[in-house]
Amino acid sequence: KELADVFITEQVKEIQAQVGDKKVLLALSGGVDSSVVAALLIKAIGKQLVCVHVNHGLLRKGEPEQVVEVFRNQMDANLIYVDAVERFLNKLADVAEPEKKRKIIGAEFIRVFEEEARKQEGIEFLAQGTIYPDIIESDGVKAHHNVGGLPEDLKFELVEPLKFLYKDEVRVVGKALGLPDGMVYRQPFPGPGLGVRCLGAITRERLEIVRESDAILREEFAKNGLEGKVWQYFTAVPDFRSVGVSDGERTFAYPVILRAVNTVDAMTATVENVPFELLEHITKRITHEVTGVNRVLYDLTPKPCGTIEWE
Ligand code: XMP
Repeated sequence: KELADVFITEQVKEIQAQVGDKKVLLALSGGVDSSVVAALLIKAIGKQLVCVHVNHGLLRKGEPEQVVEVFRNQMDANLIYVDAVERFLNKLADVAEPEKKRKIIGAEFIRVFEEEARKQEGIEFLAQGTIYPDIIESDGVKAHHNVGGLPEDLKFELVEPLKFLYKDEVRVVGKALGLPDGMVYRQPFPGPGLGVRCLGAITRERLEIVRESDAILREEFAKNGLEGKVWQYFTAVPDFRSVGVSDGERTFAYPVILRAVNTVDAMTATVENVPFELLEHITKRITHEVTGVNRVLYDLTPKPCGTIEWE
């Protein structure tokens, strides 16, 4: 905590010296890194920071609302909220190939961000939540999604105050800056979001199933003491249905896959030994509460040979 305060004081001075009275743009996803950068910059330069939150329709339940609540309402930040849900879903309609989906989401994200950047006057800096592992890691397995790739005429000078920190240190700094626990201790979430968990070509119906089932899984993990213990947990929904029966009637509905893994560096992972009774309870809740679901499966595959995400 004391080290975090020293870090914050130093960074505030450095940011003020670097930026002066100019404006800084930040893509604020609501993830740990961008949230901590935002809080740090708000402390250093207040409304000279322009945060852009792009809601691409692939965020978890409650996330866009939390970003608005924390940054606009509580921290009084300069926050632009962009509702790009229709735009992303239209671009993604009928695209089933995982790498293509990732590329479309990444490219569209940059396009939306670029449009917002062009509407702003006098921006000279771009803040990014780059952390130390981002610099030293290069992982070629899946296309990773980041805010690089802005066109030449929008090449701003970078502000990257977290670039020498590890994730744990970023969390400590976030906590010291007064961010809520739900934001600071949040599990990792991929840039393409629920888009890589709504398997195959994304439909609104299955996207809703992923979002609602994920919310139930998170709620139950929190209630049962697994929230801080398991590294990453989520649901995925395939693009096929199966036959079931409910109240004596035949159903033809989607399965929901549960995934809960532990890892140190995300390069390998093991499966969490979730108590059977809890799995049964989650299954019951999801099949009763989420429309269009008639089965729940638990993924027992470690990495390798599976990856953590399904796409
Ligand atoms: P995989 O599925 O490759 O995932 O075993 C390893 C970790 O990386 C996360 N992940 C991403 N994170 N942008 C990110 O910031 C991405 O495009 C992305 N794809 C996967 C995944 O959630 C897991 O924690």
